[in-house]
Amino acid sequence: MSTATFTPTAAQPTSAQSNAASRPLAAVTGAELQAPLIQGGHVRYANLDYGASAPALTVVSAHLNEILPFYASVHRGAGYASQISTSVYENSRNIVREFVGGRPDDSVIFTRNTTDSLNLLAGCLPVQDGEHTGEVLYLDIEHHANLLPWQGVPHRSIVAADTLAETIANVRAALQQGGVSLLAVTGASNVTGEILPIAALATLAHQYGARIVVDAAQLAPHRRINIAASDVDYLVFSGHKLYAPFGAGVLVGRPDWLDAGTPHLAGGGAVREARLDSVSWATGPARHEGGSPNVLGAATLARATQVLASLDQDAWHAHEAAIRSHLVEGLNRIDGVTVHQIFSDTDTENDTIGVVNFSVQGFDAGLVAAYLAAEHGIGLRDGRFCAHPLLKRLGLPSGSLRASFGVGSRLEDATRLLAGIEELKRTGLGWDYVVDAGRWVPANDHRSYPEWAPNTPGTAGAAPCTID
Ligand code: ALA
Repeated sequence: MSTATFTPTAAQPTSAQSNAASRPLAAVTGAELQAPLIQGGHVRYANLDYGASAPALTVVSAHLNEILPFYASVHRGAGYASQISTSVYENSRNIVREFVGGRPDDSVIFTRNTTDSLNLLAGCLPVQDGEHTGEVLYLDIEHHANLLPWQGVPHRSIVAADTLAETIANVRAALQQGGVSLLAVTGASNVTGEILPIAALATLAHQYGARIVVDAAQLAPHRRINIAASDVDYLVFSGHKLYAPFGAGVLVGRPDWLDAGTPHLAGGGAVREARLDSVSWATGPARHEGGSPNVLGAATLARATQVLASLDQDAWHAHEAAIRSHLVEGLNRIDGVTVHQIFSDTDTENDTIGVVNFSVQGFDAGLVAAYLAAEHGIGLRDGRFCAHPLLKRLGLPSGSLRASFGVGSRLEDATRLLAGIEELKRTGLGWDYVVDAGRWVPANDHRSYPEWAPNTPGTAGAAPCTID
C-alpha cells in the first residue's frame, strides 16, 4: 500500500472501540475482495459504501443457492417446483411482516426497491370524485425517492430547522393547517445517518388526521422497527441496502388505500377478470405485482431480515457505534476536515446510524473519492446523494463524501480511511487524476478488471444523482 511510509496519527481506536468492532458482526460475501491499487499491488477492499448498496450476507447467498434448484413460476403452475416457489414467495411476506412488527392485516407488497414502493404508494392516495382528498407533506431533507413521487400529487414541503425539536414543531404547525393526508418522512437520513423519531411523528400525523409513510431504506438495515408499536401506517425499504441485493424492495402497510389505489404494474396476475377493453383488478398484493414476481429477490430479502432479527441488539448497536465514533473522532482531529449533520441537537451516539458525511477543505469530493479508491482500495460515495435540496441547504452544492458501514464492517476500514485522509492532507495526491465522463479517475489507469466487467473506470458512466 502507498501508506507504507506514512505513519498516521489520527487513526488510533480506543480499546473499547476495538473490543466492539475489530471483527465483522456477520459474514458477508466479498469480505476479502482484493482491490488493485494504482501504484501496484492489491489490498483488501474496504467497503464503506453500505448506504448505497450493502454486500449480501453469506447466509443470504447460501439461501439463494439453496432455493435456485426449485426456481419456477410463482402462482402459475401445478408442478412441484412451482408449488415450492409459490410457497417461498408467499411465506416471504409473513417473514417480512414479522420483521417490521406489522399488523396482521397489513399488506406486504414486493417491489423493485424503495423508490418503486413510494411511487406505488403515490398512486394509492385517497381520491374522491377524481380529486385527491389531501396533500402529502414532506421535509427538505429527503432522498429524491421520498420527494419526487409526491411532486406529481398535491403536496407541501417544509424546510427543516437547525434543531430536530424545532423541525418537529414546524411539522406540527404544518399539520395544524389541515389538509394533509400523508406525512412522508425518512427513518434515517441517507446523507448524515441521523434518525428521526418516527413514533412521535406518527402520533403527530394521526392527531391531525393524516397517515405516515416512513422511508426506511437506511433505517431498516441498522435498527429494529415495529410499525404496530410505533403506529406507522406504511413502511418501505430495499433489499439491496439490507444485505439481499437481488432486486426486491417492499411496501408494508394498511390495506385500504392500497386495495383501492391505481394498480402499480398493469399486467398478468394483477386482475380478477380481464376483458378486451375493461378489467376488474385484484385486491391485495396481487393488484400491484403484475408480471412474474421476483421470487428470488423476495426470498433473499426475507432471509436477510431473519438474520438481522437474530442479532443481539446491544452488540449490533455497539459494533456500529464504535466504528462511527472512531471515524468521527479521527476526522475531527484532522485539520480542514468537516463532519456534517443536519440537526445541531441530534444525539450522535444513539440517534445516528452507520453513516458519516464529511468534506476535506481544498479538495473536490469526487477527487478525494477517486484517490481513496485508487491509492487505498477504499470504496465510499461522493456527490449529492440524491438529496439535492438537503445538500444545498447544508452549504454543499457541489457535494461531499459519505462513509457508510454495517454488519460486515470492521474498525480497520475506518482506520484505513482516516490514514488515507491524513496522508492526503500531509503529502497530497500520489498520482495524477483527470475528469472522465464527469468523474475523477486516475490518469493512465492500467489496472486490469475481470473480463466479464469490460468497462474501465470512468467510462462506465456515472449515476446522474452522484454528480449533478
Ligand atoms: N440511495 C442510495 C444512496 O443514498 C443510492 O447512496
